[in-house]
Amino acid sequence: MSRKPGRQADSPADAETRYASPPCYAGDFPGHFGEEVPIAEILRIERLNALLEAERAGAKVLAILRDELDVRSPLRGLLERLQKDEGGNAVVLYKTIRRLGGVASHETGAFVHKTLAIDGLEARLRFLNKGQAWVVRKIDEVLPDIEDAEARTMLETMRSSHVDNIAACEAAIGEPPASEP
Ligand SMILES: [Fe+2]
Repeated sequence: MSRKPGRQADSPADAETRYASPPCYAGDFPGHFGEEVPIAEILRIERLNALLEAERAGAKVLAILRDELDVRSPLRGLLERLQKDEGGNAVVLYKTIRRLGGVASHETGAFVHKTLAIDGLEARLRFLNKGQAWVVRKIDEVLPDIEDAEARTMLETMRSSHVDNIAACEAAIGEPPASEP
C-alpha cells in the first residue's frame, strides 16, 4: 500500500475511524435483512393494512361525494362527519401499524373508483355502506389476533363508529328500492 509523501503514520484514533463498521440500522427494518418475522405477524400487519387502505379510500370518496353536494343539502353535514371519521381512522391505523413494527401501506383501496363508477348519490351511498359493513367484518376477523391493548381499543372504537355510521347513512337515504319481480 503506497503512502503519500510526508504523511505521518496513522494514529490509533485514525485507525479506529478507518476500520469502524458503519452503524447498523437493521433493527429499524424488521424482516428486510433476512431475519425471521413470524408469518402470523406478517398476516396481522397485512390485515391492518387492508383496513388502512379501505379507510383511506372511504375518506377520499366521501370527500368527493360531499363536495358534489350543495352547501344547503342536508346530506352534506352527514357526509362531512363520515369523511372525518374515515380520515381519522386512516391516521390511527397508519400510526398503529408503525408502532407495532409493521410497514404501513401508502396505497388507497380500489373502492374509490368502484364507487364513482356507480350512477347516483343514493346508489353510491348504498355501496359505501356495503364497504363499511366489510370493514366491520374485517375488524371482527382481526381482533382475536390483536394482543396490544391500545390497538384493540382503537379497532373496537372504529368498529362501533362504523356500525353507527352505517345506521346514520341508512336513515338518511331510506330503505333500498324493492327489487324487480
Ligand atoms: Fe370505513
